[in-house]
Amino acid sequence: MTMDWGMKNRLSRIIKKDGHTVMLAVDHGYFMGPTTGLEKLDEMVTPLIPYADTLMLTRGALRNYIDPAVDIPIVLRVSGGTSIIGKELLHEGIIASMEDAIRLNVSGVAFSILVGADFERDTLLGFAQIIDEAERYGIPVVAVTAVGRDMAKDARYLSLASRMAAEIGAHIVKTYYCEDFEKVVDTCPVPVVIAGGKKQPERDALQMAYNAIQAGAAGVDMGRNIFQSSNPVAMIKAVRAVVHENVTLRKHIRFSKRKASNRMFFTCGSDRQ
Ligand code: 5RP
Repeated sequence: MTMDWGMKNRLSRIIKKDGHTVMLAVDHGYFMGPTTGLEKLDEMVTPLIPYADTLMLTRGALRNYIDPAVDIPIVLRVSGGTSIIGKELLHEGIIASMEDAIRLNVSGVAFSILVGADFERDTLLGFAQIIDEAERYGIPVVAVTAVGRDMAKDARYLSLASRMAAEIGAHIVKTYYCEDFEKVVDTCPVPVVIAGGKKQPERDALQMAYNAIQAGAAGVDMGRNIFQSSNPVAMIKAVRAVVHENVTLRKHIRFSKRKASNRMFFTCGSDRQ
């Protein structure tokens, strides 16, 4: 695909020279309100920013919590409109215009699609509209392949949803890790990043990120497994080492539990946290 300089420039801000990226997802408030860990979003996110390649969030969070002088590429969530307590959680539509995305000087926008759900057509048509508008201004679009409760998070489904997202025009696909993840990556012509999903033990989340990178993923767009960790800064540093330095868990990352605080600490290479 031929791309304009602006599109290439923005993509290079999201995915680094090594082809990898650590995107920090803190957009949860758009459907979950004050999510655990993000009650005071600025206090959580500010110390994590130096270790993230990209920050993914809503325009309200950006304007209210993030210092405009910060030097980090922004991926703006532009889909939403439903809530965790409503009946149609994943029937999302457009919640921010491309004009506002440009005003906010973003490097990309993110939109959730729900392949296989009752409302798949609405989400896919909204997504196509966002692609048209974003292409006009050279803004990359991250397709988030959201998964409903009844759907299997397996390679068959996730490769279907990821490939569809790319065929409709996504520049990056965010999906879930699954067994045979190579199949998802190999059949998707654009970079694939994984969501973290629900909080799991740090070791498991890091292993998942490691496996995804080995399977060919470009990186992670991880939220709860970082900001709900007992030590978010150490966790994002460890994720970074897995994504950018290809470190293995057993060899390079050590976990120790300090009894006094009962917090998990990571030692990653020479970097002690
Ligand atoms: C929903 C999302 C989330 O808002 C968020 O970005 C997911 O991140 P994580 O699962 O790592 O907490 O994309 O579909």
